[in-house]
Amino acid sequence: MTGDQQAGRTVTVQAWRQAHGQAPGRFESYRVDGVTDEMSLLEVLDLLNDRLVAEGTEPIAFDSDCREGVCGECGVTVNGRPHGPTANTPSCRQHLRQFPDVDVFRIEPLRSAAFPVVKDLVVDRSALDRVIATGGHVAVDAGQAGDADATAVPHQRAETALDFAACIGCGACVAACPNGSAHLFTGAKLLHLAELTYARAERGRRAGAMTAAMEAEFGPCSSFGECAQVCPAGIELSAVAAVSRERLRRGWRRKDD
Ligand code: SF4
Ligand code: FES
Repeated sequence: MTGDQQAGRTVTVQAWRQAHGQAPGRFESYRVDGVTDEMSLLEVLDLLNDRLVAEGTEPIAFDSDCREGVCGECGVTVNGRPHGPTANTPSCRQHLRQFPDVDVFRIEPLRSAAFPVVKDLVVDRSALDRVIATGGHVAVDAGQAGDADATAVPHQRAETALDFAACIGCGACVAACPNGSAHLFTGAKLLHLAELTYARAERGRRAGAMTAAMEAEFGPCSSFGECAQVCPAGIELSAVAAVSRERLRRGWRRKDD
């Protein structure tokens, strides 16, 4: 290993700094030495923050938790793309080895009218939580717990539920959409329960409540498709179509439901 490799490389981070939601924001440029290809973009921010703290400067605020692509807590816009340069990958899994030719990272919050800035790179994504909350839990009295295999769930329905349950609620789809639409997110949250045996009894109620909350908080869908291109959970565009279908189905119930 050469001395240069041991020392790591130097990158430039242009980070959005904003003291609070009502304060004016601006980009500030930082040179960060000692960056390695194994680091994620969030670890580059960690490295930079260690230095800022040592210098007595306010560190850059950003969200993260699991750093394994599971929790949905992270989310920044990097060089204009929600989550970062690598498609369908959360910010915490954007490693520098994936984009060796990029040395300047312009990092700003997930931008959407529905996500007000709290501080620096942190935004308030509670509008997503409110859509889920209006769906509520499934309140069917199913009696005492039965054997796990007493209620048959057709294999394809179980697979569909698992596919859409993969949504981690990061909000990148909203930030990627020119309209600030949350159709991909809402569709995933509807479809991960819609076809399951007990949940089907409340399918129409959930669809009505969640789509109304979605429309109150987010923009309309114009079928741009940018949402699916940044989604780290691989939620397919069929979730977008499902929003209208689930709502229509409330009035025209299918015979097999
Ligand atoms: S649909 Fe994808 S991009 Fe949107 S909140 Fe869920 S995981 Fe994130
Ligand atoms: S920190 Fe949990 S998904 Fe990125």
